[in-house]
Amino acid sequence: MKKTLALALAVVMSLGLLASCGPKEPASNSGTNPPSSASQSQGGDASSIPDAPKEGGTVGVCIYKFDDAFMTTYRNSLQEILESKGYKVTVVDGNNDQAKQNEQINTFITQKVDALIINPVMTSAADQIIDLVKTADIPTVLINREPTAEQMAAYDKLVYVGCDAAQSGTFQGELILETPNQGDINGDGKISYIMIQGDPENIDAQLRTEYSVKALQDAGKEVEQLNLTRGDWDRNRGQEIAANDLAQFGDKIEVIFCNNDDMAIGALQSIQQAGRKVNEDIYLVGVDALDAALSEVMNGNMTGTVLNDAVGQATEAVNQMELLLNGTTYSSGNQSVYVDYVKVTPDNAKDFVK
Ligand code: GAL
Repeated sequence: MKKTLALALAVVMSLGLLASCGPKEPASNSGTNPPSSASQSQGGDASSIPDAPKEGGTVGVCIYKFDDAFMTTYRNSLQEILESKGYKVTVVDGNNDQAKQNEQINTFITQKVDALIINPVMTSAADQIIDLVKTADIPTVLINREPTAEQMAAYDKLVYVGCDAAQSGTFQGELILETPNQGDINGDGKISYIMIQGDPENIDAQLRTEYSVKALQDAGKEVEQLNLTRGDWDRNRGQEIAANDLAQFGDKIEVIFCNNDDMAIGALQSIQQAGRKVNEDIYLVGVDALDAALSEVMNGNMTGTVLNDAVGQATEAVNQMELLLNGTTYSSGNQSVYVDYVKVTPDNAKDFVK
């Protein structure tokens, strides 16, 4: 059995799904260091490598809200993988309401599910969630919203699967640096941008906002932030914010950074309504590589995006869940498993169409 597991892990690693584990590393090398050993790559303790996977169990999956483009791909993928392995799966919609999600977790606990996969509504609620699952002694994989290592250390049957958000921000900055005028369309010596942010409580929003601009500054560029507005990952909000900013700042805007693709697609509508042309008089970047965004990158209507690998993360979340079900425990500081982001340009966009 160990052999099968080692083989499975080797396959996962060779597919490049596992970026790194343990504490988050700086953006410059995060996601590029291969795990140094199989036990590390599992994020678990070597002493607790499982004997046999427990299949056919029940799994409760809590999603922060169904009405989120990226998380829809992710949850569908999770369900498909779990069902194909014979698990009985229930996926519930938290409606972006932490109190509601806590009730859903309690219901799953009462039903005695074998494992939980939870996409928290609020990162700040991680302590409550961890407390609930620990008291009930249910192996749990947290996804998409990363708690701190200290919070996770409270429970050794808990692991986080996600990506290093800083890396996606850095890639967005690099996409701008790779344009012919490196983002300085009007040649005034500085890159003037607006930032359309996701939910600012979310670490992905915080780090993408910070690292996209940091990449420009690290390359010695002067930057000017014309505006930063929260758009809560939502297409309509992206459209409204871009419309307002284009009306207010006009040609001064050279770059629109969006923390995700859904907001970028909204922003694109406003760019087109304002008579502006992406890659000619304005640049636009997102994150996620939604199919709609990949089409726009290929059409030249988006400068680029960053693959947020929903299938890779779902695969890894199930893998980690099975390790937990088989008795793996996680030591403090080794409870995060990362899947790599990938920079998407017109050259490689077609490779990611689903
Ligand atoms: C991010 C993703 C966003 C949104 C968010 C929800 O990773 O890029 O589109 O889904 O997660 O927490």
